[in-house]
Amino acid sequence: MTYQDNPDNLTPDQLQGFFQGWPNPPSPETHLKLLKNSDHVFIALDNNQVVGFITAITDHTLCAYIPLLEVLPSHQKQHIGKELMQRMLKKLEDLYMVDLVCDPVRVGFYASFGLKPLTALGRRNYERQSGE
Ligand SMILES: CC(C)(COP(=O)(O)OP(=O)(O)OC[C@H]1O[C@@H](n2cnc3c(N)ncnc32)[C@H](O)[C@@H]1OP(=O)(O)O)[C@@H](O)C(=O)NCCC(=O)NCCS
Repeated sequence: MTYQDNPDNLTPDQLQGFFQGWPNPPSPETHLKLLKNSDHVFIALDNNQVVGFITAITDHTLCAYIPLLEVLPSHQKQHIGKELMQRMLKKLEDLYMVDLVCDPVRVGFYASFGLKPLTALGRRNYERQSGE
């Protein structure tokens, strides 16, 4: 397993199988676009295929948000998600606030990094879920 902190050398064919369970998922091309447009990313590669990624957007002053973290089903439970989270939290360690939103089933995973439950509100426009 190798990890890298930028997507510049990636191609869409290395980004297969993500957004599991999304009804209207982004294409690999759109996935690469969102990686390039994020302020920070970490990417896990196995045999030159991306098997996990995490993104963050930030004002570089006080605040950051972690919108996306995913490890391919074939590579879950091998501490890749943990490694990606640890690298991103280290990158963001000087900021006042780091937020993310997750399903109740993931609260235990994120709490293991010291994150505390907060109240979140949000909006989803499923017609725009693919980003295209
Ligand atoms: C969530 C996800 C990224 C975790 O990645 P992963 O590589 O399978 O997780 P890891 O192997 O790094 O797990 C790290 C630790 O967290 C623990 N953990 C995982 N999920 C947990 C949960 N719901 N509650 C408590 N602990 C959990 C693991 O048991 C492991 O513990 P250990 O260090 O004692 O062995 C992965 O399951 C995934 O991509 N899921 C689908 C997409 C998703 O839900 N993304 C998050 C959106 S908010």
